[in-house]
Amino acid sequence: MKLEVISKEVIEIVKRVGSFIEAESKKLSTADVEVKGLNDFVTYIDKEAEQRLIRELKGMIPNAGFIVEEDQSQKKAAEYNWIIDPIDGTTNFIHSIPVYSISVALSFKDEIILGIVYEINSKECFHTIKNQPAYVNNKIISVSENNVPGKALIATGFPYHDFSLIDPYLLLFKDVMQNSRGIRRLGSAAVDLAYVACGRFDVFFEYGLKPWDVAAGAFIVKQASGKVSDFSGKSNYIFGQQIIATNNLLHEYFIKKVQRYFI
Ligand code: IPD
Ligand code: CA
Repeated sequence: MKLEVISKEVIEIVKRVGSFIEAESKKLSTADVEVKGLNDFVTYIDKEAEQRLIRELKGMIPNAGFIVEEDQSQKKAAEYNWIIDPIDGTTNFIHSIPVYSISVALSFKDEIILGIVYEINSKECFHTIKNQPAYVNNKIISVSENNVPGKALIATGFPYHDFSLIDPYLLLFKDVMQNSRGIRRLGSAAVDLAYVACGRFDVFFEYGLKPWDVAAGAFIVKQASGKVSDFSGKSNYIFGQQIIATNNLLHEYFIKKVQRYFI
């Protein structure tokens, strides 16, 4: 099946699962919230949404593997792998803060070739495939054209369970706060990345993220002419738990700033 056809079908699947999540969100109660670890939560809705995605995607590429947030019995395959977060922004979700998304990426031999981030409440669907531009709701998007750090709007995620790097993080945070237009913390890394891709944010950085939080969004940033790296400027940002995504123009500037604190 051609990647373009696969992408169209996956968008339909993701939107269907999005409607399921939206409908269930109205019934959610505190008794439905399970604790996975320190400040790390899951609900039956995350689990059921993930199973629905796995079930539908399984038929699409036989023998594809799955790297997913909730169901750890899923196995990675040698060639094609789906990398899925059924709800990126679970803390927002359980607190009825409307910023959360479904994130689905497809990799072939460890190279990402498809990325979809669907922001459920705004119904914005960001998507791209290899050798194509990035889109939001079928309109081509690109990163911002700002090359002035003082005019940059920066997104980040605050450390909330891995505090190993909190000191350099806070020093960097103070520096960025004093040398930018402002900082935002939306609570869904996939949405942060999608917003870099369409020029709403100029820069996003966070540490401690998992492959399912970043795989789709980072690919969308790249296809929208942005740049993504780990904190050392290298490309280990999907499994390496450090990510900087920018409009390209501010990348070198930002890498130098991060390296001043994270050595
Ligand atoms: C989280 C969100 C959040 C980020 C966390 C992630 P989850 O994903 O992306 O913005 O700060 O580090 O874990 O747990 O809601 O899927
Ligand atoms: Ca999640």
